[in-house]
Amino acid sequence: MFSKEELQNGLKTKTFGHKLFVFEKIDSTNACAKTLAEAGTEEGATVIAEFQTEGRGRFGRPWQAEPGENLLFSSVLRPTVLKDNSSLLTYFAAVSVARAVEKASSCSLECKWPNDLYLNGKKFCGILLENSFKQSSLDYSVVGVGLNVNQRTFNEQLADRATSLAQELNVDIDRKELFQRILQEMETLYESVKEGDFSEIIRDWNKRCKMFGKQITVRGGKEELTGTAVRLSDDGGLMLETSGGLRTVYAGDATIVR
Ligand code: BTN
Repeated sequence: MFSKEELQNGLKTKTFGHKLFVFEKIDSTNACAKTLAEAGTEEGATVIAEFQTEGRGRFGRPWQAEPGENLLFSSVLRPTVLKDNSSLLTYFAAVSVARAVEKASSCSLECKWPNDLYLNGKKFCGILLENSFKQSSLDYSVVGVGLNVNQRTFNEQLADRATSLAQELNVDIDRKELFQRILQEMETLYESVKEGDFSEIIRDWNKRCKMFGKQITVRGGKEELTGTAVRLSDDGGLMLETSGGLRTVYAGDATIVR
């Protein structure tokens, strides 16, 4: 199991992971980080666990990951961001993880809207952003990262769509080193987030997204919208050219039709 000392040894960040909570087993690192954030914990505080009994994904779905093989962590953010721009924090996390993974493994990954990372057509990382607001501004945000690192087998329901870095790259990855790299990339990008500038993040995310120009369907609740993906809007929505004109969607699941 990870120890706090091991994970902080060599970590050069000042904010992310400076306050670190390490668990062998927990219900959900997001749930724990939210409790800490409610109690006023500082930004950058991070909760990491080897195993989650109630790991959660978007739309209340479970997040399953074998113990001791992956990275499961959540960080508290407190940037001054308006409610309308808070979903942009998802891209901050996705680009931070993407940069760290690419530096650690020299692979070329893909961002899938809104907050998944793919390798060779399969998902290896999901991000869950949970925001809390005070009036029209963000009070805090918890960004949770589930990254399949060295897990080589997936259950029947997941096998055809989930993968891990080790499975795709055929090499085991040093999880501590990768964790530290991600926190480092977060710290670097967080400077512009604090200034309300997401332009570099959106540019980078757009560059890594292969959905543009393709026909996609976005399903959110009872609504369904099909169109050609154009790009991310400046406020983090996905722009679609539909039969009814240009539309921007902010939440949902996207499937590539062709
Ligand atoms: C998704 O793809 O739906 C998002 C999955 C996010 C999973 C991570 S694992 C660490 C953190 N704690 C949780 O309970 N969820 C996130």
